[in-house]
Amino acid sequence: MWLEHLDIRNVRNLSEVSLKLSPKFNIVSGENGSGKTSLLESIYLLSCGKSFRTHRFSNIPTQDQSGMGVYAKLSGNDVRSIPIGLEYKDRKNIFKADGHRLKKASELAAYLPVVIIHQESQRVFTQSPKYRRAFLDWGVFHVEQCFLSTWQNFNRSLKQRNAVLSQRGQWSAIEHWDIELSENAKLIDTHRRQYLDKFVLLFNRFVNRLLVIDGEIKVDYRRGWSEKDDYLDLLRSSLEKDRIMGYTQRGPHRADVSFKINGMPLHEYVSRGEQKLLVCSLYIAQAALYSQIADRGSIFLIDDLTAELDARHIANLLSVLDELDTQVFVTTPDLTLLDSDFLSESKTFHVERGMVSEVL
Ligand SMILES: Nc1ncnc2c1ncn2[C@@H]1O[C@H](COP(=O)(O)OP(=O)(O)OP(=O)(O)O)[C@@H](O)[C@H]1O
Ligand SMILES: [Mg+2]
Repeated sequence: MWLEHLDIRNVRNLSEVSLKLSPKFNIVSGENGSGKTSLLESIYLLSCGKSFRTHRFSNIPTQDQSGMGVYAKLSGNDVRSIPIGLEYKDRKNIFKADGHRLKKASELAAYLPVVIIHQESQRVFTQSPKYRRAFLDWGVFHVEQCFLSTWQNFNRSLKQRNAVLSQRGQWSAIEHWDIELSENAKLIDTHRRQYLDKFVLLFNRFVNRLLVIDGEIKVDYRRGWSEKDDYLDLLRSSLEKDRIMGYTQRGPHRADVSFKINGMPLHEYVSRGEQKLLVCSLYIAQAALYSQIADRGSIFLIDDLTAELDARHIANLLSVLDELDTQVFVTTPDLTLLDSDFLSESKTFHVERGMVSEVL
């Protein structure tokens, strides 16, 4: 799948943008503050109703203007084009696909799987486990159809159990929530494990394509509770401790994935540029696995591609992306870092104070 057409209205400094896109590479260049990241943010908004830059949605629409919207025509091999859209009005999001209004953003995500690498993406290695869980669950969600409902059921039961533990619910219901939690926890763990087994093989392959590293990268999954415990038994036996704490301490909501090299946390070992290439390996492996399993491509966004990378590593990264079944959008303030042959085969857009035009 790829975006054939993109229309943006009042997203940050982009008041009116209408683009015909390449199914392969789309390069977006322009000075600082011109609107490059906002263009990627618009595509990301369309894919999931969220921004990668802010949790405060009301900061995104252009100030003093009403009617923010992002619209696209989604095309694929041998399938008809599907119009999709997101509108933000009166502090509410409205999602549409193929002429129908969608109930939830997650339905939009199923139409448009978007993988993004941006300035904060390195936190997947450096910060809290919630970023690694989000990474892992994106992958599982897009390849395992029942994962979303299992995950939602788990979280609903977790909220209810925690309400009982903090004395906001009926104590007699705890056994019911324990059973519900346990059934869904086991499924989540199984799906995550199956996904990771396949993922790690591809990740190592892309690491070897993108950089030379002296040592082996070890990826370890911890499911959030001890491998030797049955989850239902654990919930029952830790009831008193959980009650004192006021919440459920163990479970898939505490899962984590660690990345180590020569026994050290990866981000403490590698250089900044290497870390960026490892982040790229991670997300490229995810996009490649998605194409393999779902048998359709995803959309790959890289904000500020050229930051922290030299020309040789940039060229290599682009050639690896070229082999994938993905439509790619990259931004850079400096086109001179990109190979001229590569540029002649791509669509290039120039952004200037919120106006986007194709460079012919
Ligand atoms: N809600 C908003 N309404 C109008 N303009 C906004 C809004 N939010 C941010 N801006 C402006 O949008 C402009 C574009 O920002 P953006 O981050 O897209 O630039 P960029 O081209 O990615 O720059 P850089 O190269 O520095 O990363 C900024 O100048 C910013 O001040
Ligand atoms: Mg930017």
